[in-house]
This record gives sequence, C-alpha cells and structure tokens, in this order.
Amino acid sequence: MTTVSEIFETMAYGPAPESDKPALEWLERHGRAFGLFVGGRWTKSKNGDGFDVINPATTASLARVTQAGAADVDAAVAAARKAFPAWSALSGHARARHLYALARAVQKHSRLLAVLESLDNGKSIRETRDLDIPLVARHFYHHAGWAQLAQAEFAGYEPLGVVGQIVPWNFPLLMVAWKVAPALAAGNTVVVKPAEFTPLTALCLAELAHEAGLPAGVLNVVTGDGRTGELIVNHPDVDKIAFTGSTEVGRLIRKATAGSGKKLSLELGGKSPFIVFDDADLDSVVEGVVDAIWFNQGQVCCAGSRLLVHEGIAERLVAKLRARMEKLRVGPSLDKAIDMGAIVAPVQLERIRTLVSRGVEEGATLWQPSWACPSDGYFYPPTLFTNVAPAATIAQVEIFGPVLVSMTFRTPAEAVELANNTPYGLAASVWTENINLALDVAPKIKAGVVWINCTNLFDAASGFGGYRESGFGREGGKEGMWEYVKPDRGSGLGTRGSGGAVGRPAHKARAVRSRVPSPESRVPPIDRTYKLFIGGAQVRPDQGYSRKILAPAGALIAEVAEGNRKDIRNAVEAAHAAAGWAHASGHNRGQILYYVAENLAVRAAQFAGLLDAMTAQGEAAARSEVEAAVARLFSYAAWADKYDGAVHQTPIRGVTLAMNEPIGVMGIACPDEHPLLGLVSLVAPAVAVGNTVIVIPSEARPLAAAELYTVLEASDVPAGVIRAGEGAGRARRRGGGVVFRHSGGRRRRGARVGGEYEADVGGMGAEGLDGQPSG
Ligand code: NAI
Repeated sequence: MTTVSEIFETMAYGPAPESDKPALEWLERHGRAFGLFVGGRWTKSKNGDGFDVINPATTASLARVTQAGAADVDAAVAAARKAFPAWSALSGHARARHLYALARAVQKHSRLLAVLESLDNGKSIRETRDLDIPLVARHFYHHAGWAQLAQAEFAGYEPLGVVGQIVPWNFPLLMVAWKVAPALAAGNTVVVKPAEFTPLTALCLAELAHEAGLPAGVLNVVTGDGRTGELIVNHPDVDKIAFTGSTEVGRLIRKATAGSGKKLSLELGGKSPFIVFDDADLDSVVEGVVDAIWFNQGQVCCAGSRLLVHEGIAERLVAKLRARMEKLRVGPSLDKAIDMGAIVAPVQLERIRTLVSRGVEEGATLWQPSWACPSDGYFYPPTLFTNVAPAATIAQVEIFGPVLVSMTFRTPAEAVELANNTPYGLAASVWTENINLALDVAPKIKAGVVWINCTNLFDAASGFGGYRESGFGREGGKEGMWEYVKPDRGSGLGTRGSGGAVGRPAHKARAVRSRVPSPESRVPPIDRTYKLFIGGAQVRPDQGYSRKILAPAGALIAEVAEGNRKDIRNAVEAAHAAAGWAHASGHNRGQILYYVAENLAVRAAQFAGLLDAMTAQGEAAARSEVEAAVARLFSYAAWADKYDGAVHQTPIRGVTLAMNEPIGVMGIACPDEHPLLGLVSLVAPAVAVGNTVIVIPSEARPLAAAELYTVLEASDVPAGVIRAGEGAGRARRRGGGVVFRHSGGRRRRGARVGGEYEADVGGMGAEGLDGQPSG
C-alpha cells in the first residue's frame, strides 16, 4: 500500500481527465464530416476530396474534412467580396459590436473550444483552457476596441478588401483570432485556411460567429493542405495575404505575391535565444525554460530553443534543469495533470527525431529523462543538448519540438554575438537581476520581442512579429492594425474617408431606432426617490432632504436625495478605499465598461423615456443620446488597454519608458445638457484609466444618473469606483476633491457632448481629463 510520505516523495497523482463529451457531441452533430463554411453557411465541396483529422494523443480519427479545390476557393473569395461593401460601410461602432459579440461567443463556448483544440492538436487542456482560448477572446475584445476607435485613430485610411489568411497548426484557433480580429476590425472580409492537421476549431468558430450574427460572407473558412493555401495566395481577387508558418513556405508566398499588388505579412520560424547571466534567479530561470521550450511541446515559433548560459553557472543550471525535466509529465492532452501533450503529427515527430539524431552525430551530448513517453500517441520527451557548437545543425535549424540546445558564453558581448548568430529574429529572453545589464543587452538583440526575466508572453495589445527570416509585419496592438488598412486616396490622406473608409463618420452609420415607450401612465405612479450611490451601495443621504425633479412642463417626475458635506466626505473616503481599481489591468477595466454598456443597452428604452421626460427633447433624440452613451462607453472600454505610455528617444544609453498613471480620486461635475451622455463622457474616460470618481450629476436633471446606479450594480463595477451624489450647489462647492488636471496625455480633438453624437473620440485625453468641461 502507498503511504502518505511516499506520495509526498513521488508526487504521483492519478489522471484528472477533462470530459470530451461536449466536443464529441459537436462532432457528431456534424456527422463527423465537414464541408466548407462559405457565405454564412456550410457548403459541400465542388472538389469531392477530403481527409481525416487525427487526434495525435490517440491516433484516432476525429472527423473528415474537405480538401478545398479551385472552385471552392473561388466561391469563398466571391462570398467575401460580396460581403465587403456592406461590412466596410458599417460604422466602427457597429463592427465593434460584432467583434464584441464574437468575443462573447468564444467565452460562452470556451470549454468546447478548449477541448476541441486539445483533441485536435494534442496540446494539454491546461494550455488551451487557460491560455489559447482566453487569448482568443481577448483578441476579439481588443479589436472590438480598434473597430470602435477606427474613425479617429485611422482617419484617412480604408480597409484593403478581401484578405486571405493562412494559419499553422501550433496555435490553431489563436492564430485564426490573431488574423481575423484585426482584419474585421478594419473593415475587411476574410477567407481563412486553417492548417490541415488542425482545422476543427476554426470551423467551430465560423459556426459560432454565424450564430452571433456576423453577416454572411464576412468570415469564410476553407480547409485543405498547402495546395488550398496556394490557391488563396494566387487568387486574383484577394487583396492581402497574412501567413504564419514555415520560412520555406513564407519564401514561396513572397515570390508568388511579388508584383501582384497584394499586401503581405509573414510570421515565420525562429531559433530564439534564452540568455541567462550569472546573477539570474536560477529557480525562476528553470521555470522560464519550461515555459520557453516545453510549453506546447516546443511547437512555438518564438520558443526559447537556444539556451545561452554564463559559463560560471552552466553546470549548476543544467543540473537543476535535469532535475526539473525528470518531474515533467507527458501524456494525453485532456489530462489536467500533464505538462506536455502529443506532437501534432507523425511527420513532425519524424522531423524532430531526425534533427535529434543529427545533433548526436555532430557530437553534442543528449539528455532525456529516465521515464518513457506513452506509446499510443505521437509523444516525444523533453530533451536537452549540451556541448553544442554554435554552427551545429541543431543550433541553427528550427526543430519545432521539445528540444533545448545549450551553449555557454563568458561576456555580455559574447552573449549578444551568439544570440544574433542565426538567420532568424523573432524573439529572445534575457535573464538577470541587473536591470542595467538587461536594458543594455535587450536592444542589441535582433528580435521582434525581447522578454526580460520572462518568456512567451503574448497579448492582443502588443505587436508581435519578426526580423530577417522570421518574417515581417506585426500582429496585435495598433501596429498590427496597420497591416489591414491602406491610405484612402479617394478622400485624401488625413481626411475622413467616404463610405468604405475604416473611419466612417458615425452620422452616416445606419442608426437603429426603436420606439420609446411613453413615461405617462393612468395609474398613480409608485413613489420613486433616488438615493446616493456610495461604496457600491445605494445609501440614504445624511440629511433627510430630497429634491423634486420636474419635467420642463412642470410635472413631477421623481425626487432625489440631497447630498451634504458628510455624504461627500463618505464618498471621498470610499473612493480612496477603492484605489485598487488603478491596479486592475486595462483589460479588466475595459471589460467592466463594456458590461456597463451592455446593461445600459438592455434598458435603452427606459433611459430614453427618462431623458425625454426631463428634457422634452423628443423620443428620437433621447434614444440617440442613449445610443451615443453606449457607443461612448465602448470607446472608453476600447481605450482602457490602449492608453499606452511611450518609449522616448532620450540622449542616454538605454531606453526611457514613459508610463501614464491615473490621477487618483477625481470629482466630476456634470452639465445639464445631455444628462446621460454628459455624465458618461466625463466619467468613463476617468475610470477607464484607473481613477475613482465622485460624480455630481446635472443638478436639474439627475435622474438618468440615479437610474444608472442599478446598471453599475449589475455590471461588476467594484464598490467605490463610481459614486454619485445628487447635490445642490452647496455640495458641489464643498466637493473638495474636484480636480480637473491635465493628465499629461496627448491633447486631441474630443468628441462633442451634444451635436451629432460622434461615437468615437480622439484619444483618452478627450473630455474630463484634459481640461475643464464646459458644464
Ligand atoms: P507550413 O508552413 O507548410 O504550413 C503552414 C500553413 O501553410 C498550413 O496551413 C499549410 O497548409 C499552408 N501551406 C503549405 N504550403 C503552402 C503553400 N505553398 N502556399 C500556401 N500555403 C501553404 O508548415 P508545416 O509543414 O506544417 O511545418 C513545417 C515546419 O514549419 C515546422 O517543423 C516548423 O519548423 C515550421 N512552422 C512554423 C510555424 C510558426 O509558427 N512559425 C508554424 C508551423 C510550422
């Protein structure tokens, strides 16, 4: 019998399998046979050919998919072309709503996608569940933001048209998201070809996108191998090719598109250095190496596959690494307790084996753990080579497997030389506790990304891409968006585009208007006296007074609490207590603002009714004000993770990183004009960047603000971030914390509170941060 102390020693634990049932049910619903997703529906191939998709952890067939031929690719490109005029003519806000819906669809079906991805690719469920799929959603959210901001941020640019996107098998759905999200945000329509080994999640996404209301033809998925890819690349009606895969195929595509007028971005292979200096924290380094080369079985374009170690610590680090490798667990992808899953396909396994044999032949020392991999799938153990010559094949060629090649150096200069001794330039990581050394070495390495004391970190807000044979173009962030737009020559650079421009003027967008119910009623109204909103709760005012809010014609609409000095003091205290808001990630703050927008949109009719009652502006105008408030919440949610600092070119050695930070607790007094939109326009930018606020809504027309409490309560806004006190002038004057300070941000043209209700604003510095609001 096993004793507790033995379990502690071996750390052995039983399998913890994730259920494959929902994924298998989804496959069964499709009869385990897939056509192509073209023009918003499943279509049968005109070609008739197909191939099996294999689970590499078991070698069982999962489904049969189509090998798309020339007629299929023609049909997909035609569907995308047909959808392009309407899609590109939508307002940025409308496209943002679609991308947002896609992000939501991914989140709602995240486990199905994660399980499907693990079955199809062989990678561990922990990775698909915690990394791939959350990042997919994150990419759609982030790019919903760029769609929303396109009008201001890409003024004078227009979408390219139909984009052909060819993705690899190592991050099947994530690579689809990296490509589809920016393309759609910019107003393009796409034809995507997933890799032949891993097409299932792309097909599932197409179906989910359709269910989420994405217009037919905007996203088309065709399956097939390199021949299908070639058909897309050579198609005369495709305006851009975005490719991730091998350098070899990248070269072919570059030749094929040269002179064709097609825009091109290539994200190719790498042989990224992982540099460890002698003052690095070696235990962190060991975990870093695990993430660098054994994450996703080393099938990562930016894998830290070359370990460059300061000579004095090499022996110690290698010993630690071997001890860690001995404890890694390789096994079936749906087991939550494994560290490494299966290699994607026999051909890739064979390629790894061949290169490893070459390493041994060329004299390097091979080390693998004592345990054996499961034999019923395509598994390969974590592998470490020492005594490797810099010119050895395994030091130069991308292995794309769990094989780490280590070399030593004596000086930082030698480390840089070794790091750059490669035709690639995708990524690098530098490990040292000395910030001066890190900042000296990092810019000298020719790589698109250099991580310091970390590795393999990706985010939608930050561009990713290579140098030299690792390709060109960036994916993610604003830099990634440029890959999907071109100057709008028709309307003149720098000016607002006409229909079809990325930044289509919002007033030309098709507005969706519905009837606003009349606030009148024949039965006596239920008393409605609004309280204050402090520390996340609706509270009675300190002094027991309330004020009547009248319609322009004199009728009573409701009463509101009158705030006093003590209420303001409590609000300021609560706002300081919520200082943690500043440390929430921009993504997180954006999510909450989106949620507020969503809950406000649900109650649009009610808010419009209240606005109309207070202002008599008319149903249509009131409805427009609510819509504009929703759009503006989207804008600031979009900005939440994009209000970056800057890297300044200061005349010193190294780089200067300038970071924006929130002001802290802000007091905000809102104008009477546009009671809801005015408030949202002032509050949303302040909270988006991490401030907490005390809001005094319009004195005469505070009801929309008061009604907003319940929206905030329903939207996960942390207690104390926003608090509102209806106040008379007295409270306003005594507000104390009312600060309108220049934030140091860029001064840009701001959206007007009234007028035509522009959905987008030019930068976070618009209202409420850069200067005194007119109210
Ligand atoms: P690959 O480059 O052949 O495949 C990537 C994608 O390109 C797939 O969708 C494939 O169907 C398509 N494709 C293939 N030939 C094409 C052509 N002539 N025109 C248009 N599309 C084409 O990569 P493969 O064969 O799957 O893997 C081979 C090696 O490539 C790997 O061992 C690895 O070294 C590298 N690789 C690098 C990746 C990266 O993320 N940088 C991803 C996948 C592979």
